[in-house]
Amino acid sequence: MMNTPAWLNDALFYEIYPQSFQDSNGDGIGDFQGIIDRLDYIASLGCNAIWMNPCFESPFRDAGYDVSDYYHVAPRYGTDQDLERLFKEAKKRGIRICLDLVPGHTSADHPWFIESCKSKDNPYSNRYIWTPGLVEKNEAGLSMVRGYAQRLGSFAANFFYHQPALNYGFANPDPAEPWQLPVNHPEVLALREELKNIMRHWLDMGAAGFRVDMAPSLIKKDEKHEANSALWREMRAFIEKEYPDAVLISEWGRPCEAIAAGFHIDFMLFGENPAYTSLFRYEKGRDVLAWHVGHSYFDPAGKGDINLFLKEYLLQCEAVKEHHGFISIPSGNHDMPRLRYDRDLDDLEVIFAFLLTMPGIPFIYYGDEIGMRYLPDLPSKEGGYNRTGCRTPMQWDKSVNAGFSAAAADQIYLPIDPAGDHPTVAEQDGDPNSLLNRVRAFSHLRKTYPALGNLGDFSAVYHPVGETPFIYRRTFKIQIVSSSP
Ligand code: NOJ
Ligand code: CA
Repeated sequence: MMNTPAWLNDALFYEIYPQSFQDSNGDGIGDFQGIIDRLDYIASLGCNAIWMNPCFESPFRDAGYDVSDYYHVAPRYGTDQDLERLFKEAKKRGIRICLDLVPGHTSADHPWFIESCKSKDNPYSNRYIWTPGLVEKNEAGLSMVRGYAQRLGSFAANFFYHQPALNYGFANPDPAEPWQLPVNHPEVLALREELKNIMRHWLDMGAAGFRVDMAPSLIKKDEKHEANSALWREMRAFIEKEYPDAVLISEWGRPCEAIAAGFHIDFMLFGENPAYTSLFRYEKGRDVLAWHVGHSYFDPAGKGDINLFLKEYLLQCEAVKEHHGFISIPSGNHDMPRLRYDRDLDDLEVIFAFLLTMPGIPFIYYGDEIGMRYLPDLPSKEGGYNRTGCRTPMQWDKSVNAGFSAAAADQIYLPIDPAGDHPTVAEQDGDPNSLLNRVRAFSHLRKTYPALGNLGDFSAVYHPVGETPFIYRRTFKIQIVSSSP
């Protein structure tokens, strides 16, 4: 029997890309102390949980999704003790912090990988997926990197070439390719134990849980994700036993699978999920991450069809119910163009009205609540490529660097939106009709009426094909417990 921590019932998340949130020491990059300084602001949005992108030691060739030490934070954000202080300061304000766990790959600079590259056998030789020769007959559709190491062979990389895939084994190893280890190989199982230790380390320090990067892809050749689901169910059982209040949030993009696999929350995401794409993103030229499809429902021009979303969403809702999991429709994240892209603030008001009155657990990506823009033409930073434009510094006020940092403008992590009318917190704070204050009002409504909350029921009332409006009903059944004998 799986239990769901009660705090999720009214959780509202805020996602922070730590590089760009608040710099406290004038070195041009955001840090833990900066986040501490802004916790009251986060609380003012009604958010009581944070997902922070990776903050671990890393060469930052993929913004920290290339970890080189799972047990220490990157010095640019502060010390391990500073992170612990962040947990404590957040807790004082009723805010929990989930870290970003990248279990599927490390940086090529990780000491495990450096050992694994050596031709002489050692305890890390099998920690990554290596072929014995340079090319094998059945490479199982993996992206192989050749010519990197001293040892003969090529290694599997998960995303960029410098992110070697950790070896959780193969669901259906090819007997003709013995380098494809089975999931119960002792060295593969040892890695699972290491993963638990990493989680223990941060949960002991005060983390509330993890957002898990590329969750369904740890075990290879697992088309239906059955073996990966079994792995995550093991992790959930471990969490429930040792840290019953902790949560696991997946980057899976298919809640029906992810929640059954033991995750508490799963996102509906662009690309993987046409239902989500049909809501927010629309055609705007070619794009390598397939961000753009026809007309989306929240297009300023209309023409989108809410039914594309609704059909899939209702199916997912039905499927997650029995496992007491939550679907999250995020306002955005560090991988996609911002909601504001080609929209104005009024459009965003409508979108937030929707996001914050839907069931499940909303995630607000930092800056979306003031309508920060996506800057499409920025040169790539730390492996961001076309994601760079949604990772620019938070705009706090009209002071130097929009209040993000006291460093010189050419020394900050990414430039501030150069538009003269770029939105700021300070300006919107004082305007009762601003997007920021609307977002606060919506989140207040959500907290006030259980029917509008995470657990309330949802039914679609009016949803004509290709037309507006979309009308839905939210209800909440109050259980009346009789006191009579
Ligand atoms: C998904 C993360 O959200 C993204 O930013 C990263 O580049 C890839 N996974 C690889 O870890
Ligand atoms: Ca700093």
